[in-house]
Amino acid sequence: MIDFLKKITLNKLKVSFYTFYYSLLNQDTKYPKYLTKFENDISKYFNKKFAITFSNGTTACKAALYSIGLKKDSKILLSRITFPSIISAILLTGCKPIFMSFDKNLQFILPDRETILSCKYFLITHAYGYPVDREIVEKIKEINPKIKIIEDISHSQGAKSGNNQVGSLGDVAFMSMQGNKAISAGEGGLVLTDSAKIKEKITYLSHLNKKNPIDEKLENLTKIGFIGKGRMNPLGAIKASYKLKELDERNKKIRNKFKIIYNHLDNNKSIKLPNVVDFDKLGGFFYGLPFFVESEKILKKLSKNFVISKYDWLALDLSENFNNPEKFLNLIYSAHIELEELLTKPNDDRRYLYFFSLEHLINTSEKDINDKMQKFFNDL
Ligand SMILES: Cc1ncc(COP(=O)(O)O)c(C=O)c1O
Repeated sequence: MIDFLKKITLNKLKVSFYTFYYSLLNQDTKYPKYLTKFENDISKYFNKKFAITFSNGTTACKAALYSIGLKKDSKILLSRITFPSIISAILLTGCKPIFMSFDKNLQFILPDRETILSCKYFLITHAYGYPVDREIVEKIKEINPKIKIIEDISHSQGAKSGNNQVGSLGDVAFMSMQGNKAISAGEGGLVLTDSAKIKEKITYLSHLNKKNPIDEKLENLTKIGFIGKGRMNPLGAIKASYKLKELDERNKKIRNKFKIIYNHLDNNKSIKLPNVVDFDKLGGFFYGLPFFVESEKILKKLSKNFVISKYDWLALDLSENFNNPEKFLNLIYSAHIELEELLTKPNDDRRYLYFFSLEHLINTSEKDINDKMQKFFNDL
């Protein structure tokens, strides 16, 4: 009971009240005013002209891909650390993913010139709150100036790329607002863009009967739902609005806790934390503080003091079926799919990628994190 009461905050009470209130008024579908207000507020936070809500991040990603004029059979550059349903979304468009390796700083390893030149699109995942190094992106753009960038900022709300919010590297960015994300709608997604054309296309591709104030002629196209129906349950926007208000404060608290762990483990030979030049540039966060460790013994000792989770996204990049859109479609149409046959265990540093659980860090005081670190070292 006491644990339950501890979870109650003033903002959570307000979310519950407004959810109840708008349900009573039957304002729980389509595009009520409070949903539009949330879209306006979040577009301002990210310094973007338009924000369009979605039922989830995967649907938002699909709409973002189609909105930039994707051509079938094109190649899309992306990291091996990409959320599985985003790889499926790419394959469903008929495009081929080209997987890039990464280093222990969670940064891309630059592929060769020919590979970069062969890709029309570049999907950037800012994973676990660590924004992708702008210089690497600039190098890729220097080699292939025509490459179009789509950013997945699901893990990095409030993180900075250079001096800008993440989401400003290309024409379009998307994010998940699923329950464990920094801006949670329970389930939800979002696309951000400065382009009125992209906003219009996204609206008529996936938002049935949404008013389109930019070009009213296009409103007829919203009667179809070309790529399905992607609308968010508007009640989710109530929670997400409060999460947005709390975001900067939340990021600051998490960064301070990360700093304590970095102070203890920077330069540690057995545990490698990704390089951080400026902690103020981290934000959003997901799963927890990532680190690489090979020694089982060290892992066991860490686990005595902290909640540690292992990287567990499937290594789809190693399966032929997920490298080729035709094979992928055949797979979907086949009567029975045996997951085991598809998958190979990762053969790179993903084997050694773990996380200090975010939830545990959030619920542990700075002093206790410090003490736990001391205990870990005394135990070695
Ligand atoms: C980096 C990343 N991108 C996209 C998604 C997909 O979002 P959703 O689960 O809302 O469809 C996730 C989900 O966790 C994710 O972690």
